[in-house]
Amino acid sequence: MYKQPYPNLFKPIKIRNTMVKNRIMSAPNLLIRTIGGRPDNYYLGYIEHKARGGAGIVTLGEANVCDGGNHQFGMEPTLENMPIFSEISHVIHQYGAIASVELTHGGERANPRYNKDANLIMGPSERPPGQVANPYAHLNHPKWVTHRAAIDWPCRAMNKADMEYIANGYADTAEYYMKAGFDTVIIHNGPGWLLTQFISPFTNKRTDEYGGSLENRMRFPLYVLKTIRDRVGQQKPILLRLSGTERCEGGYTIEDMTTYLSKAQEYVDMAEITTDGTAWVMAPTFMPHGLNVDLAEYIKKSGIVDIPVYALGSILDPELADRIIGSGAADGVSMSRALISDPFLPKKALTGREDDITPCLRCLNCSVSDNRDRHFICSVNPLISREARLGFGDNMKPAKSRKTVLVVGGGPAGMQAAITAAERGHDVTLAERADALGGMLRFTAVDSLKHDLRRYTEYMVRKTNRSGVKVLLNTEVTDALIESINPDKIIVATGSKPIVPDIKGIENARHVSDIYFDPDIKLGDRIVIIGGGLVGVEAGMHLNTLGKHVTILERYDDIIRDSGGVYRIGLTEMLLEKPDIEIVISAQVKEIAASGVTYEVDGNSVTAPAETVLYAIGMQTDDKIYLDLYNKAPFVTLIGDAKKNGKVHDAVHAGYYAALDL
Ligand SMILES: Cc1cc2nc3c(=O)[nH]c(=O)nc-3n(C[C@H](O)[C@H](O)[C@H](O)COP(=O)(O)O)c2cc1C
Ligand code: SF4
Repeated sequence: MYKQPYPNLFKPIKIRNTMVKNRIMSAPNLLIRTIGGRPDNYYLGYIEHKARGGAGIVTLGEANVCDGGNHQFGMEPTLENMPIFSEISHVIHQYGAIASVELTHGGERANPRYNKDANLIMGPSERPPGQVANPYAHLNHPKWVTHRAAIDWPCRAMNKADMEYIANGYADTAEYYMKAGFDTVIIHNGPGWLLTQFISPFTNKRTDEYGGSLENRMRFPLYVLKTIRDRVGQQKPILLRLSGTERCEGGYTIEDMTTYLSKAQEYVDMAEITTDGTAWVMAPTFMPHGLNVDLAEYIKKSGIVDIPVYALGSILDPELADRIIGSGAADGVSMSRALISDPFLPKKALTGREDDITPCLRCLNCSVSDNRDRHFICSVNPLISREARLGFGDNMKPAKSRKTVLVVGGGPAGMQAAITAAERGHDVTLAERADALGGMLRFTAVDSLKHDLRRYTEYMVRKTNRSGVKVLLNTEVTDALIESINPDKIIVATGSKPIVPDIKGIENARHVSDIYFDPDIKLGDRIVIIGGGLVGVEAGMHLNTLGKHVTILERYDDIIRDSGGVYRIGLTEMLLEKPDIEIVISAQVKEIAASGVTYEVDGNSVTAPAETVLYAIGMQTDDKIYLDLYNKAPFVTLIGDAKKNGKVHDAVHAGYYAALDL
């Protein structure tokens, strides 16, 4: 008889009177695949992917509730858009999931650019426009309250008529989506948005009955929840996304939010617990898994909240999710990125295929691409948000005719190309010069902070070995090998090589990758790294965990310029907490000696003593093999770092598409 592998995770739960088939909620993702407020077919396909993958609740990202509330491009609940929203709820139901949509008002963070009437930009208190010169301005703040940092437009304080207008906006919008077939709505009381702005003492400076004491600060949010409940009636559940703590001195606390929820539960039926503190909300890879579970647990164990509580934040695998529920810390889990990297996580967990779950890297490429670039990319899942064009992956079609393929290079691009080509039924050989697959990703076997990327590397190696690809290690590609394979297509993924800086005494320095790949490298206690990009900084963090004092010399006036968004903020915050990592910007390195590095900064010459000097100023393409091979098969394609230096996502996507083009 079948025995469910995760009995807590896959136990149905009733929320109000709605049965949910399991305890996994697909968290809201903005997904700016909308045109003029209308989700396009790519959006529909993306949501279908989530539902098809097996989550119990599938949530659409932020839907604005009224003019003045938009902080981004987003979905507009108009009569013309009703058909597409009905189709979205339908497609969620098709797979037995609960259809949910998140309702948001940006309050003081709403942006005049996305609203018709700039006079409707309002919040708890008046705020003059603030000027923010650099992305780290918030770090001067008591701690990590980043949300107020990037706003340079004014906002007026709400009066009672405004409160009524907004509360009715919430109710109208909830009613609209329920008419479109949604089972529930989730109210965004997460970090930094209007309802939470009322609760935060930083943003609520009112002196009337809506400011001051916690009781007063909760008054407007509770009024909104009551207005929604009164409008939608008693039949449908209403969910609440709640920030459990502001994570800074003087901000709202978990005790405050538990008290608030004990009142709010009169109107809402489930609370999903998130947090403030940028890097804690969408934790980058160097933070722990399940990092906010304690907040859900506090609420669960408070004894004053009776509705189901869901935990959220870096819950990436079914084992952890099941354990959280089993321990009584939460009734369910909400997952965002784990279901972007692999929407089929629930189904794979149910059928004992955990090994096959594509692990999330917590690289936040998805967030940057969604919010900044308006197209949605996941580093490890080339299909996500492209389902309308490419399908869902579970029914990948075999190629019309079987081809013979030679992939040269076993890094992420080469492995992905080989896996996808093999899945499509081709006869694939992968030749790798080294004695193991992984390419540059093999550094994760040594690095102390890249455990997510290590999991991914292991997954890719496992998948390559299982996919029927003939893997030839310790193999240089020769004419004899090509002749014996006689490939229809050669995919060249030979990676890149370090750029060596033209600095006097460079022979005294090593490339930073040697700390991972050369087991004999001698590392002194004081290390200088030349180059403050992502590679240099992350290597510095790793060396610091080994107890080394690290000085990073960056020639530009800022570090980690090759990263962005939350990842960059989180890394910067973490760096600032490390007294043993010294960063010097605008440093022009003049000479490297065996005992240290001399550089100029602000017109002064300084020498940083060091027993070990490393450089990380970038990589250059390695296309020599391509130029040797370009005429040795009908089709020869150059991909990955060998063509253009990039990150994991560039390599994985290039590998995937090279294998589709067969
Ligand atoms: C691409 C992307 C889009 C997101 N959009 C939203 C959103 O629309 N509304 C929201 O409340 N949170 C949004 N989030 C935050 C997630 O819902 C979730 O809180 C966060 O990713 C932490 O969960 P995780 O660690 O499981 O990824 C988004 C996150 C990502 C990565
Ligand atoms: S882009 Fe990165 S963080 Fe986002 S889901 Fe994919 S692997 Fe995870």
